[in-house]
Amino acid sequence: MNNVFAVYGASGCGRSLMPVAVEQLQRLYGDDYDAKQLVFIDDALTVDTKVNGHVAMNYQRFIDLQPVNKSVLIAIANSQVRQQLADKLTNDGIALWHVQSERTLVMDSVCIDSGGALSPFVTLAANVTIGKCFHANLYSYVEHDCIIGDYVTFAPRVSCNGNIHIHDHAYIGAGAVIKQGTPDKPLIIGKGAIVGMGAVVTKDVPAGAVVIGNPARPLNK
Ligand SMILES: CC(C)(COP(=O)(O)OP(=O)(O)OC[C@H]1O[C@@H](n2cnc3c(N)ncnc32)[C@H](O)[C@@H]1OP(=O)(O)O)[C@@H](O)C(=O)NCCC(=O)NCCS
Repeated sequence: MNNVFAVYGASGCGRSLMPVAVEQLQRLYGDDYDAKQLVFIDDALTVDTKVNGHVAMNYQRFIDLQPVNKSVLIAIANSQVRQQLADKLTNDGIALWHVQSERTLVMDSVCIDSGGALSPFVTLAANVTIGKCFHANLYSYVEHDCIIGDYVTFAPRVSCNGNIHIHDHAYIGAGAVIKQGTPDKPLIIGKGAIVGMGAVVTKDVPAGAVVIGNPARPLNK
């Protein structure tokens, strides 16, 4: 076994992405695909177990697998944790694995950095630039001329229209719709901002803000 692949995280996010990872390896290796090449990493485990038919082990056990090329998809929704794990993997010389479904549509001039997770029915349209470890969940789309930073997360069915810039660590909730910007004035979602599920965003969202509703307004608790 020369290559081993892992989905880091066996909670909901990881278990939803594992079938996408399986499909990708089947595309890559065809009949040579070996399910033993693909495992879960779960730091809570003290002994190996099975999750949805896949071996699950802790990170140290994964590190100890020898001698293999290792690639890991980080399947953790929390973007700060995703960054910590990405830094750890990079320090340990392990590749950040990009996974996408065969039902993901990547159209034209799309540039995406390492470690992305593109679920089934995600569409990335034209002239789109995306940073590290982007998560786009089921049915989300990114339209033309968008720039998306590092560790950005889209829940299912996010509508990200043209000329939108989304800064690092922003989280966009399920079903949110973001109004298009223009080439000279893109709509901006600031660093670490949270857009609530179902929000309709019509204006820039400041860094760190939480917005909800239609039209989206700051959530004041
Ligand atoms: C916006 C959000 C981050 C706020 O979370 P929170 O800080 O824990 O907020 P709470 O649940 O305490 O709710 C605070 C208030 O806002 C309301 N609220 C929360 N989210 C809302 C939303 N998306 N739209 C409208 N109102 C919302 C609540 O009903 C509550 O109102 P109340 O004070 O009158 O009872 C969260 O509700 C959200 O939308 N997260 C995205 C979830 C998602 O998309 N998950 C996908 C998983 S794959």
